[in-house]
Amino acid sequence: MPTSTIPVITIDGPTASGKGTVAHKVAEHLGFHLLDSGALYRLTALQAIRRDTSLTDEHALAKLAEHLHISFTGDAVFLSHENVTDAIRQENVGNTASKIAAFPAVRQALYGVQLGFRKAPGLVADGRDMGTVIFPNASMKVFLTASVQARAERRYKQLIAKGFSANMEDLLMDLKARDDRDTNRAIAPLVPAEGAHVLDTSEMTVEAAVAQVLQWHAAIGKS
Ligand code: DC
Repeated sequence: MPTSTIPVITIDGPTASGKGTVAHKVAEHLGFHLLDSGALYRLTALQAIRRDTSLTDEHALAKLAEHLHISFTGDAVFLSHENVTDAIRQENVGNTASKIAAFPAVRQALYGVQLGFRKAPGLVADGRDMGTVIFPNASMKVFLTASVQARAERRYKQLIAKGFSANMEDLLMDLKARDDRDTNRAIAPLVPAEGAHVLDTSEMTVEAAVAQVLQWHAAIGKS
């Protein structure tokens, strides 16, 4: 199957919108591969923090991104054979990821890595620019969103469940700052792709959101 004909479903949206969980379940249901593109930015951020790389040195950060030894096994993420699944989910790593993601050279370094995930029988790709920049010819595009309050509550529960400490007010502030950075950056900003289905999940269960995405997918080519 030529790569360009392999189906891709893109699921973009702001942080803690539930897109990761929805993407995971949709991929599982369809037997598709999964690309968690945020993890790539988080891995670069984690490496930068560990190596004490200046967060304003675009060139050095891009070099780090280019030379990451990454592997995904089921739900686990490995950096040079170390399991960093939990480490990359910490708030400081997410915030750093959002900062370094504004650099064009970092995005360029991760571009080819992301395209490499497009394998038969199909791919569900989750991130910020999956439908706008990385897979503009995707078979279906979704933009998943939720109110900032709903997202902060979800993130709070996730962090507590993982045994991390969390504070609602700090989380709200961080989410707003990240939304602002991700939406207003000059390159690949967070915006719904043209033709994307927009889904507000503030009042929706994960199951309902997954069912809606699967229904849209099933309807492709039928109208
Ligand atoms: O989805 P996430 O919260 O794991 O992503 C972490 C950060 O990475 C996010 O704040 C912005 C950046 N990111 C990006 O710029 N483009 C993507 N496709 C995915 C994530």
